[in-house]
Amino acid sequence: MATSKTRNPRVLFVTPEIHPLIKTGGLADVSGALPAALRELGVETRVLVPGYPKVLAGARNKRLSHTFHDLPEADEVRLLSASLPGSGVPLLIIDCPLLYQRDGGPYQNPAGVDWPDNAQRFALLSRIGAILGSDASPLSFHPDIVHCNDWQSALAPAFLHFMPGKKAATVMTLHNLAFQGIFPPHIVAEVGLPPASFSIEGVEYYGNFSTLKAGLYYADHITTVSPTYAREIQQEALGFGMQGLLARRSDKLTGIVNGIDTGDWNPAADPHLVQGYDAGQMAGKTANKLALQEKMGLKRDPDIPLLGMISRITHQKGGDLLLEIAPQLLQENVQIVLLGTGETALENGFRNLAHAHPDKVGVTIGFNEGLSHLVEAGADMFLMPSRFEPCGLNQMYSQRYGTPPLVHATGGLADTVVDGVTGFVFEPMTAEGFFGCIQRALAAYRDKKVWGKIQRNGMERDSSWKKSAEDYLALYKSMLGGR
Ligand code: ADP
Ligand code: GLC
Repeated sequence: MATSKTRNPRVLFVTPEIHPLIKTGGLADVSGALPAALRELGVETRVLVPGYPKVLAGARNKRLSHTFHDLPEADEVRLLSASLPGSGVPLLIIDCPLLYQRDGGPYQNPAGVDWPDNAQRFALLSRIGAILGSDASPLSFHPDIVHCNDWQSALAPAFLHFMPGKKAATVMTLHNLAFQGIFPPHIVAEVGLPPASFSIEGVEYYGNFSTLKAGLYYADHITTVSPTYAREIQQEALGFGMQGLLARRSDKLTGIVNGIDTGDWNPAADPHLVQGYDAGQMAGKTANKLALQEKMGLKRDPDIPLLGMISRITHQKGGDLLLEIAPQLLQENVQIVLLGTGETALENGFRNLAHAHPDKVGVTIGFNEGLSHLVEAGADMFLMPSRFEPCGLNQMYSQRYGTPPLVHATGGLADTVVDGVTGFVFEPMTAEGFFGCIQRALAAYRDKKVWGKIQRNGMERDSSWKKSAEDYLALYKSMLGGR
C-alpha cells in the first residue's frame, strides 16, 4: 500500500468512543474532532467504532458494508458504514450485539463495574482495525495508516505485526498511561497472539498481559497528546511501569498537543448558554454566571468570584486537593461549583461539602454535557489541579470562554496555559501550592483591568485543531516516506 508523493495518506482511525455519540472523557472529543480536521486537510479518513446502542441510534446513513464470519470473538459480525452527525465524518461501525448491545457505559456496567469480557470486546475492535489495514480487507478503502487510541484499540498493531502480506503502518496514540488494558496471561492465546509474544519483548507486563503495552511495543510510531507528557512518561514518576519501553522507543515517540472543536466550544454560538458572548462583548458571560448560580442553588451575585471544576473525580484530577483546602478557601467570599462523577469516596466528599455550605458550594454528581458548557461560561475561573494530565481539554475550553484556568504544571496543562498571561500555573502539587495559586488568581480578579487582559489573552489563543492535524499529517507522511 505505497502512497505516491502527490496523494495524502488514507487513515483508519480506531477508537472506543466518539463525540457526539458516546463519551466518557477527552478521547471522545479528540475522536470527533481530529478526523474532521484531517479531512479538511484533504486526508481521506474513516473512524472505526464499536456499535454500542448509542452509536447505532445516533449514527447517520447506516448501510451494511460487510459481514465477517467465524472471528474468534463472534460467529457473525456486521460492519456498517455510516456518518457522524454534525461533521459527516465517515464511520465504520462494528455491529456485534453479543459484545456491544447492552445498557451501561462503554467499559462498565450500570453499577460501574468493568464488563467481564472487555478483553474480547476490545480485541474485536482491534481485530477489525487490523483486518481493514491488511490486504485481507474486504473493503475498497485501503488505509495507509491505522491510527489506534489507548488500550482499547492497542491490539491492532500487534495483530497486524503477525499478519502476512502488505499492511498499513500503525500509529498508537496514548491518551492516558494510567489505563493499560491489563488481563490475565491466558487471554494472549484466546485473542490469537502467538505464545512467544508473551515476553518482556512483547505484550507481557509484570506477569500479566497488557493490550496497551502491545500497542506501544508493536506500533510503528507512538504519539501522545502533549510534548511535556511525552517527556514525562519516559521517567519513573509518570511512566506507570512503561517508562523503560517508552524511553527506548523515544525516537518513535512524538508529543502533539490536542486542539479543541472550536465549533462545539464557541461562547458566541453555544446552544447550552443563556446568552452568547465574545471577547469584545462580555455582558453575556455575566448572564451565564447568574444562570449557573441559580441552577446550582447559590446566591445570584455577579461580584462573588465563582470557581468552577468539571472532571472525572479521580486521584488523577486532584479533586482531593480541593477538598483539603476547602475549609480555608471557604472563609473567603467565593463560590465553588463542581460537575463530575468518579470515585465514590471523593463524590461523597463533595456532596458533604455542598451540604455543609449550601450557599457557597454547588455540586452536581453526574455526566451532563449541557451543564459542562454552562460551567465553562458561568464560572470566573476554572480549577484543574491534576496530578498528571496527558493533555487536558477543559483548560482550553475555559480559556476560550474567558474563564482563566488554574492548573498544576504538568503534561498538557504546562504546554497550554501561560502563567499570569492566560491563566495561573502552580508547582509543586501541594495543598499550599494550589491555595497560593487561587490567592494569586483572586488578587488578579479584583483588578478588573488585569483580569480583563488575562481573559482576552485566553479567548484569543488559537487552540483549533488545524495546526495539530497538520502535525499528524506530517507524521503520517514521514512514516510512509521510507516505504
Ligand atoms: P479526561 O479525558 O482525562 O477526562 P479531558 O480534559 O481531556 O480529561 O476531557 C474531559 C472531557 O470530558 C471534557 O470535554 C469535559 O468537559 C468532559 N467531562 C468530564 N466530566 C464531565 C461531566 N461530569 N459532565 C460533562 N462533561 C464532562
Ligand atoms: C485522556 C487524558 C486527557 C486528554 C484526553 C484526550 O483522557 O486524561 O488529558 O486530554 O485523553 O487526549
